[in-house]
Parts: sequence; structure tokens; C-alpha cells
Amino acid sequence: MTRPRKSAARRPHKHRKEKRGGPTEGSDRAADASAETDALARGSGRRRWFDGDASDEGDAAPPATDEPVVVLDRRGVKRLAGGHPWLFADHVAVGTVRDGGVVRLEGPAGVPRGWAVHSAGSRIPLRVVERDPAAELPDDWAVARLDEAVRRRADGLAPGAEACRLVHGEADGLPGLVVDLYADVAVLQAGCRWADAAAPGIARRLVEAHGLRGVLARNDGPFRTLDDLPQGTALLAGEVPEEVSWTHAGIVRRVDPWGGQKTGTYLDQRENQRWAAEELPPGHALDAFCNDGGFALHLARGGRGVEALDSSRPALERLERHAAENGLAERITTRTVNVFEDLRARVAAGEHVDGIVLDPPALAKRKGDRAKALRAYKELDVRALRLLRPGGRLLACSCSFHVSREEFLEVLRAAAADARRDVFVRGVRGAAPCHPHLVTFPESDYLKAVLVEVG
Ligand SMILES: C[S@@+](CC[C@H](N)C(=O)[O-])C[C@H]1O[C@@H](n2cnc3c(N)ncnc32)[C@H](O)[C@@H]1O
Repeated sequence: MTRPRKSAARRPHKHRKEKRGGPTEGSDRAADASAETDALARGSGRRRWFDGDASDEGDAAPPATDEPVVVLDRRGVKRLAGGHPWLFADHVAVGTVRDGGVVRLEGPAGVPRGWAVHSAGSRIPLRVVERDPAAELPDDWAVARLDEAVRRRADGLAPGAEACRLVHGEADGLPGLVVDLYADVAVLQAGCRWADAAAPGIARRLVEAHGLRGVLARNDGPFRTLDDLPQGTALLAGEVPEEVSWTHAGIVRRVDPWGGQKTGTYLDQRENQRWAAEELPPGHALDAFCNDGGFALHLARGGRGVEALDSSRPALERLERHAAENGLAERITTRTVNVFEDLRARVAAGEHVDGIVLDPPALAKRKGDRAKALRAYKELDVRALRLLRPGGRLLACSCSFHVSREEFLEVLRAAAADARRDVFVRGVRGAAPCHPHLVTFPESDYLKAVLVEVG
């Protein structure tokens, strides 16, 4: 059947094919990224028309212009309406799209549906940036969102001194982009093609408009593999020293932006570190999986003796420096250990402590790891609960998105039964507020921190 081509005049949005690289327009990377492909079209032809399952909007019509357009099928439209920012290849009826750039979304009958950025060949080919069909997406949309993300965090920051996450990807309307601020430098991670192409422009903006000294790209993690992006670390703008010092609630810390874990350290736990210091009892505490000591330092400043446990010697060396520089060296002992084995040995030796923080790395990185991860979390919890004196408290954390809050609490329940302890939940929290949780994007709510007391 031949379907009539739609008139471009029906579309409320201006044709702006040449200007969708966000802040990277003009850069080589943006130019590469703007190559149009039809990779989203199912089947082998250049275009494949929507093949017409019953739809409120009728059959798909081919795009009438060369502007990159993706026509969603009915399931895609429904998912878009549900608010999740990721659309998959099987939500697409037809598309002539732009790898790394912005594409216009349409429903099956050519009804405008908003805008998305595109990664050809990715498991997440479309990340929605605007779902209001009536909204314009100005050429500087990414810069405007960056400015807004910075503005939203400004109130909570002592300029030039603190650290926080400035951009939390989709939850800040900037897909795949993470920017962490340490005093006056930022460390950026780009997890999709659009973010990779946009990164140099984002970095320039942070330096030129927000007064940062420099911006570094730490694109050296598994988060790049989904879009098949190369690994590497590169200076994007200004200058970034080998070490940056920052303060949090009166504690001075240093990060190595070029080589520290993630972007340098774990900013998502900042508020939970303070919470643990308020809630764990005095006495002897274990900071298990301590990294560079966010929890240990706060616990020690509250007067406790802390054993800080981690398998990374460089992280512990940094912690030791932090302890010395904050006058806490006498209260913190570091141990280079495998925490699983260390806790088992302590239980076997009949040790007891007053407080424990358990903050392992994500034990379920993929959905398929879930069952194994649940067993590992339970093992840790059982050992920790056995180690606590009556009245002792445990802060158990998980940064595995694939383990839900409910499942994590269920693990604690099973651990309490195995350890034969009464366990009272005193609070459940998530990541620091600079990591906003967009409710329609569960992936932005990955961190769980459960505080319990044993009877
Ligand atoms: C999520 S990070 C901890 C963050 C830290 N609690 C903070 O607030 O900054 C996980 C840490 O676990 C360490 N680690 C990973 N596997 C380990 C193991 N089996 N035993 C000890 N440490 C381990 C890593 O080196 C890393 O520092």
C-alpha cells in the first residue's frame, strides 16, 4: 500500500538539521557524530515503514523531510508517555536518524512526540530529552540544562571548597552525562554517543561561564561499553592538577581526579557519612569497604576508634593522609583486607564491635548477577550482625541498581534470622540530593543505605 507523504507544514517544529550537536557544534567529534544513519530501522532496507499493528494513531508514515526523525510504534509511544527516558530498538517503527545527535520523535501517524538523542547500534539507541510535543528544543538546550543543574546545586555549596555531583545524567535532562565537582575542577564521564560528542562544549561552558579551573574526562569505565565508545582519560578544558583538596562538613579530603576510583571518590555517600556519624553508637566501629575514608573520618571525628577495611592500598594510603591532616590518625587504623574474609575471621575469633558500615562495590552489575549478589549481601550482613554487641548499629549499603530496596531489606530479614538477632530498622536513605532520583527513571535510584540496630 502506498501511503501519502505527510506535509512538513503539519509539524510544529522548525527544521534545524544542522544544529543539533548541543554545545559541541563545530567540534570534530560533533561532526563525526552527526553522520546520519538509518540504524534504527528494523530490517535491512534504508527505511522500513511501520507495519501496521492496530494503533490509535493509524499507520506510520515516512518522514517527509531529511530532518532526522524516528517514528515510534505503539509500544514506544506508550513507554514514552510513561516517562522512562530510554527507548529500545523494538520501540521503533522506522527511522532516519543521526548517530550521536538529536532526532525528532513521532508517533505512528506522524504525531510529534518530542525529541531524543541517538546512539546507533547501542542497546539504548534513544534517550529522550524532551517529551512535550509542543515544546521547542532550542539549539542551546544542553547548555541551558547544564546551567540549570549548576544553579540548582549552588545553594548547598561553599564555592570553591566543596564537592558535589553537578550533573546526574538523565535525571538532569542530560543523557549519559555525569559531572562531579571537586572544589574548582570538574571530572566528567560520558556514557553515550551524544554525551561523548557534547563533552568538549560542556567543559568549555563550565570553565567560561561557571568559573571552573579545568575539566577532565574520565572515560575509563565499563559505562562506555554499551555505546562501544573508546576508553581514555583526557583534559577537556583549562587545567586539572594531580590532586585537588575539598571539604565536607569540616573534614578536608583530597582526590586524585586522574587516577582515583570513579571520578575520584564516592560523592553519593556524602550525606550518609554524616548520618552514620550521628547514628552509630560510640566505641569501636568498622568501616568496611572504606575507600578513601568518607565514613571512617566522620565516625572518628565523633570520637570512635575506627578500623578501616579495603582491598585497595592506594585508597587506604589516601585515607591515612586524610586521617593525619584532620588530626584523626590516632583513632583510625587501616587494614588492607578482603572484607568477606576479614569479617568471617572476626566472627570466628569471637570479636564484637559497636558499629559497622558495609559499603561494598556494586555486587550485581548486571541483571544476571542478582542471585549471586543477594547471597553475597546476605553473607556480609550475617557476619556484621553477629559482630555487633547488643545495641550496636549497622549501616548496610548497596549501589546495585539490579537489587531493589525491597530485596535489600529482604536480605537483611534473612540475615537477621540466620544470625539469630532481633534487628530494628532505624532508617532507609538513598544517595545525596545532588544525585536526583527521577521517579520515572528507576536507574537514578540505585543507592540504598539501611540503618539497623540489633537487640
Ligand atoms: C563503593 S566503594 C566504597 C565507598 C566508600 N565507602 C565511601 O564512602 O567513599 C567500594 C570499595 O570496596 C573496595 N573493595 C572491593 N572489593 C573488596 C573486597 N573484597 N574487600 C575489601 N574491599 C573491597 C574497593 O576498593 C572500593 O574502595
